[in-house]
Formats: sequence, C-alpha cells, structure tokens
Amino acid sequence: MRIIILNFVHIPRIFRKPLWRMWHNWLIAWERKNVVMRFMNYGYAPLEGKTEMFPLSTDDEPERFCTQLYHYAVSHIELKDKDILEVGSGRGGGASYISRYLLPRSYVALDLSVKGIEFCNDFYSSPNLRFVRGEAENLPFDDQHFDVVVNVESSRVYADIERFFREVFRVLKPGGAFLLTDMRPRHQVEHLHRQVQEAGFLVQKYENITNNVVKALDLDDKRKKHLIRKRVPGPLIKMFGEFAGLRGSGRYASFASGAMQYVSYFLLKPLENAK
Ligand SMILES: C[S@@+](CC[C@H](N)C(=O)[O-])C[C@H]1O[C@@H](n2cnc3c(N)ncnc32)[C@H](O)[C@@H]1O
Repeated sequence: MRIIILNFVHIPRIFRKPLWRMWHNWLIAWERKNVVMRFMNYGYAPLEGKTEMFPLSTDDEPERFCTQLYHYAVSHIELKDKDILEVGSGRGGGASYISRYLLPRSYVALDLSVKGIEFCNDFYSSPNLRFVRGEAENLPFDDQHFDVVVNVESSRVYADIERFFREVFRVLKPGGAFLLTDMRPRHQVEHLHRQVQEAGFLVQKYENITNNVVKALDLDDKRKKHLIRKRVPGPLIKMFGEFAGLRGSGRYASFASGAMQYVSYFLLKPLENAK
C-alpha cells in the first residue's frame, strides 16, 4: 500500500481513476458514523514571522491546518458574492469553510466519489452551498458560468489534466480566477507550469509552499496520530499513517527532502481573446 500511495502518479492513467474512487469510497464509508475528518489534505502553516492565523469556531478549530490550506489557496481574491465552483471537494470541509466564512453568492462543490457527495449533502447545510457528483475532465456546467474555480490537492490524480484545464477555462467567465493548489514530484513542477499557460491562463501568482506543508504536518502530527490510534484497526494503522503523511512516513520524507513539491497558483482567464 505504501508503495502504491507513493507512486500513484506513475500508475498507468486508466487505472488511476478506478483505484482512487475505490480508496475514497472505502474511506468515506469507514468514517461515516462518527465524523472527525472533514478534510483530506496535508495542511498549511505560516512560516516564522508571518501572522496568517485567523479565527475559527470551536467546532472548526481541530482541523485548522487543513482549513488553512484552503484559506491560503483562496487568499488572493475577494470571494464575497462570487459564483464559485470547487472541483475535487472530497469530504467538503473546504467548501463548508469558504461558504460560511467568505460568503460567496453560490458555491458548487463537485467530486468523483458518489459516497463523498452523499456524505456532504447529508452533513452540511449552508444555504449557498451544494454538492454534485461529476468528473473534473467533463464538468457538467455551461460555458462562462463561474467567477472562480477552486482545486485543492486533487488534480495530480486526474487521468487527463490537460482536458481538466480546458474544462476549467470553458466554465470560467472572462477575467475569472482559477485557484490551483497541489503536489507534484519535483521533476514535474516545470511541466505543470507549462501546462497551465498552454491552457490559456495568465499566471498572477505562483508559490512553492512545500515548507508550509511540512510545518503543518509537524504541527498536526500529534492530533492525527491520536485519531489514527483511536479509530483505525491495528493492521491498517501503518497504511493510514502513510496516507496522512505522519512523521516517519514515506510521504512526510518526500516533502521534507523536496522530492515532492507543493505548489499553489493564482491564475486568470484573460478578459479578451479568451479561447
Ligand atoms: C486528496 S482528496 C482532497 C479533497 C479536498 N480537496 C480536501 O482538500 O480535503 C482528492 C479528491 O479528489 C477527488 N477526485 C479524484 N479524481 C477526480 C476526478 N477525476 N474528478 C473529480 N474529483 C476527483 C477524490 O474523489 C477526492 O475526494
């Protein structure tokens, strides 16, 4: 399992989607009875000297670092009264945070996982938020429909990322923003940079946030270890530790050594001559 998680991007494309769907459906069904996990990302922590902390309710505080990844990813623009699409919304924690705290007019959160969408529709109830099942490479929306598209820690497993970028470009209004945050093996970072530009987006801001992710993994390690020990059956503890990026796992080591990089983009669809 450790080998599969660490080498997921090297698995042939046609196997990636069914594998990912199986794993997430299982994870969601397993955790459904007593929800302690509303996010499935590695988190973000400000580095020394920066004060990017923001207030969260008592209920939201335990998953602060995962929330902070979203907070950072969307921090480049005002979201109030905007129409937003999130692709790869997982267990809906980021969608719920943005819809309640940053007050967009509407927030549509889309994910491949049927069980994930069922869970989110049962669990959350913000009036401006809805969850729909769909595929990143075939977005079920009209052209030029959204002001903003958000995508957090999801794109790296898509079978056809260039098709996903074309779809994002299509559903965004001219001048709309694409906020993309994800990890890539170090040798693929340049390629991603080319792909977003070839898709027609203008790079407004690019940041390598690997050190912020490592810091979040450090600061969140105790909480995650405790949860895994308490909730996961013995034989699966190691696998979950790997998936969660606990200190000592291969995933943690790959971030700490820089072999895996975490990058974040603020991209714009041009106002004129849009594709
Ligand atoms: C690591 S989780 C991250 C979830 C969420 N963004 C977060 O940060 O908590 C990746 C999510 O992407 C979804 N996903 C994977 N491939 C997808 C696809 N082709 N279309 C839509 N969603 C997809 C998975 O079902 C999963 O929920």
